[in-house]
Amino acid sequence: MSLRGKDIISISDIKRSDLERIFRVASSRFQGDELKGKIIAMAFFEPSTRTRFSFETATLRLGGNYIGFEATQSTSLAKGESFSDTIRMLDSYADGIVVRHSLEGAAKLAAELAEAPVINAGDGTKNHPTQAMIDLYTIWKERGNLDNLTYGVLGDLRYGRAAASFLKALNLYSPKKVYLICPEGLRPKQELLDSLKMPWEFSDLKDALPELDVLYVTRVQKERFPDPSEYERVKGSYKVDSSILKDAKEGLMILHPLPRVDEISLDVDSTPYAYYFKQAANGVPVRMALLSEVIP
Ligand code: CP
Repeated sequence: MSLRGKDIISISDIKRSDLERIFRVASSRFQGDELKGKIIAMAFFEPSTRTRFSFETATLRLGGNYIGFEATQSTSLAKGESFSDTIRMLDSYADGIVVRHSLEGAAKLAAELAEAPVINAGDGTKNHPTQAMIDLYTIWKERGNLDNLTYGVLGDLRYGRAAASFLKALNLYSPKKVYLICPEGLRPKQELLDSLKMPWEFSDLKDALPELDVLYVTRVQKERFPDPSEYERVKGSYKVDSSILKDAKEGLMILHPLPRVDEISLDVDSTPYAYYFKQAANGVPVRMALLSEVIP
């Protein structure tokens, strides 16, 4: 089934066949005119480096143009205009709308308001579907498959939407096992745990590491803590450095959606395990593939 004209709100709405079509398109040659004459609106109500710039680059590389904002102070939102009216305006100007927001459900609401397809560029703590596409694509490209691998997901599994989306995306595959590695206070919400279809268990990094094919690391999401003292308790409580990696399996891939704060030390960057910058670079071809499949 085609994704043409569809809203992309959660990775759970995507079929494995659609995802793998995106992977194949992302790894093939683009003509460069797939979005000729199209305008994509980039509505970033929350800061971003990778997602925003890679969507903009993807649009330009496909021959399209974009409009948009990141600082809402530069729009009439600063004068009190509502989210809904802003989305309605963008819908009347653009052929597709990319939305990032701090609140869960913002992208879904935008999709209900807009006729143009809406792509969720990350909202709240649960969904960042295009990040999950990039994460899986990075593994698929290196390993050729995603089944039968042992995954570790380390970090803020409570407030991190990239980690939540990565775990939900793995539901489309058959991992051998997933180890959830996090401080007590950053354990995933029960709803996410209940949705996991693969074998999983809580572990710590040292115990799980020798088994891992993929280690997915995330930062503590400081901006999403309802209580700052809760953040103070868990910050700096885990770190991947080159000394712990002496027990790593050959071929281990370390992924991170970035930005990194201090959870992967700089000495890991020069090891063969570091895939996170390659992963960020894959944002452009994956978002090119998605836009070329979705925009009518
Ligand atoms: N990975 C990610 O979403 O990064 P940005 O917040 O910089 O877009």
